[in-house]
Amino acid sequence: MKIFYSSVLILSILFYTACNNTKNKMAVIKKTRTEKSFGNFNGEAVTEYTFTNENGMQASIINYGGTVTKIITKDKDGKYADVILGYDSLAGYLQKGNPYFGCLIGRYGNRIAKGKFMVDGKSYQLATNNKGQSLHGGNKGYDKVMWTVKTKTDSSLALTYLSKDEEEGYPGNLNIEVIYELTADNGLKISYTATTDKATPINLTNHCYFNLSGGRDSTILQHKLQLSANKFTEVDSLLIPTGKLPDVKNTPMDFSTAKEIGKDIALVKGGYDHNWDLNKSKEDMPLAGTLYHPASGRFMQVFTNEPGIQFYSGNFLDGTLSNTKHNQKYIQYAGLCLETQHFPDSPNQPSFPNTILKPGEKYLHTALYKFSIK
Ligand code: BGC
Repeated sequence: MKIFYSSVLILSILFYTACNNTKNKMAVIKKTRTEKSFGNFNGEAVTEYTFTNENGMQASIINYGGTVTKIITKDKDGKYADVILGYDSLAGYLQKGNPYFGCLIGRYGNRIAKGKFMVDGKSYQLATNNKGQSLHGGNKGYDKVMWTVKTKTDSSLALTYLSKDEEEGYPGNLNIEVIYELTADNGLKISYTATTDKATPINLTNHCYFNLSGGRDSTILQHKLQLSANKFTEVDSLLIPTGKLPDVKNTPMDFSTAKEIGKDIALVKGGYDHNWDLNKSKEDMPLAGTLYHPASGRFMQVFTNEPGIQFYSGNFLDGTLSNTKHNQKYIQYAGLCLETQHFPDSPNQPSFPNTILKPGEKYLHTALYKFSIK
């Protein structure tokens, strides 16, 4: 009798465990989009769109500045954390001196010398906002405007913006569409297209600051970076390209194989803030670089069809920003940007790849930030 009861008990336990396991397996994560209010900008409602994929990865975007507010990924222990710098509320994004956290950049990412250039024999003067140079589109770039939500699905958000003729000094009405998509294989894909009615320089990009430690490390110095580039654009003291493309070999700029960012950073005056000339490839979307945080195991690959990538190591962060996520102090090197782009100041550098978009042409730029664990 005793044996009979023990057997029943053991069988019941086994049955219960089996049921529970099946239940756990069945607890699949559904692909979803949720929306929540993120405040108001000039009387217009700002909404935060959060996308979750089947693996539990999340990306959140607001229609102010087309800004990515969160990217939540798993580490090697299965713990989820946010891997980009940002703020808990809209007030953070609106504060003076917000260093372009997560936002869309345009009409021209990075600098145009003295804000001057010539197109079709006509000279133009842009708004200058950085030591007499024009940076990231001028005083009111695309990071400081409301984007229109064109379409939304459970995994994507299409935003549009009409940048009017003469805005910040740029010629032509530029019709822009940016599609953010959270892919099933843990990528955040950004597709940019634009058309114009007058020839204009264009160089759109996104300005996420990554720290793959997800809040563990106060800097990115222990991240390992690889860039698929043998050359970089040399710059002067105002960060304007000299036109020369030196070899990275035997210099602190060499990331052709993965290297800890902290290794040589002290040898680069002011830290890394340069554009790498990506190696030519026959692929449509070649690998531009990888970023790895060994302690968490988080690994990010960046793919793009653009000719360059700006690696900015967060040199100007100084711990003074308010409304930061969980009140973190964003000190120097707290996060880094990997901006897929054309080279800075291209409109004034005839030897650089062309950045002038003409009427009848279509600007096409794709970037994919793909996350995994190593
Ligand atoms: C530039 C830096 C600039 C920063 C602004 C980067 O893309 O390369 O020079 O200071 O943006 O936050």
